[in-house]
Amino acid sequence: MRIHQYDNAQQVGQAAAILIGAQLLTKPDAVLGLATGSTPIPTYQELIRLYQAGVLDFSKVTTFNLDEYCQLPPQHPCSYRHFMRQELFSQLNLPAENQHIPDGNAADLSAECAAYDQAILSAGGIDLQLLGIGRNGHIGFNEPSDQFVYGCHVVHLTQSTIEDNRRFFKREEDMPRLAVSLGVGSIMNAKSVLLLATGKDKAEAVRKAILEDIDPSTQASILRTHPNVIFLLDKAAASLL
Ligand code: PGA
Repeated sequence: MRIHQYDNAQQVGQAAAILIGAQLLTKPDAVLGLATGSTPIPTYQELIRLYQAGVLDFSKVTTFNLDEYCQLPPQHPCSYRHFMRQELFSQLNLPAENQHIPDGNAADLSAECAAYDQAILSAGGIDLQLLGIGRNGHIGFNEPSDQFVYGCHVVHLTQSTIEDNRRFFKREEDMPRLAVSLGVGSIMNAKSVLLLATGKDKAEAVRKAILEDIDPSTQASILRTHPNVIFLLDKAAASLL
């Protein structure tokens, strides 16, 4: 495990984009695992800048997003499909058929989860997985629990996640309580993992993930057993280490 600390979130984004860029230069048809939320936005802005500058090419890249809300139309401004289109995909030459996001509206969600895991396997597995971390230590929507769940699954969001994410919704009651998330096993199967954390609200989750027992009550703690994981932190997120 490597930990790099920076002064601010902008630098965290630049460092993450450098590592993702290096992955694409090494393997132009890389499979990237992508995240939503405010944390990866500086990374996505830097990737867009590098693409527009002619440095990076996404034409052979495949992406799999970590999660999606259930029962939210894909065109809803708070859906993760919409977020990815807005913040990244619409500004890159990444083919639409290579962009994967779980379908939180599938009639049979267990079949959707199984198909999503299978699609990742068929693509050859994830080369590089980008992650944020929740205030409660979640990765993807793998919420604090008494177990680590291996595969893609349906999740009941915890109160802390609902409180964190409802700011994006006009009314609290519009915020979904259910989501589909990649499991911890699929995340751990990625060849390399980059976890980004910025801001003092993440400091306690980062401290638990790095310094306390490996325990499903802080799902990110399992990353310490990954052979190739890098934590990119700003100084506020690293302040309790
Ligand atoms: P955030 O979410 O980037 O919006 O803080 C991160 C997460 O919940 O994984």
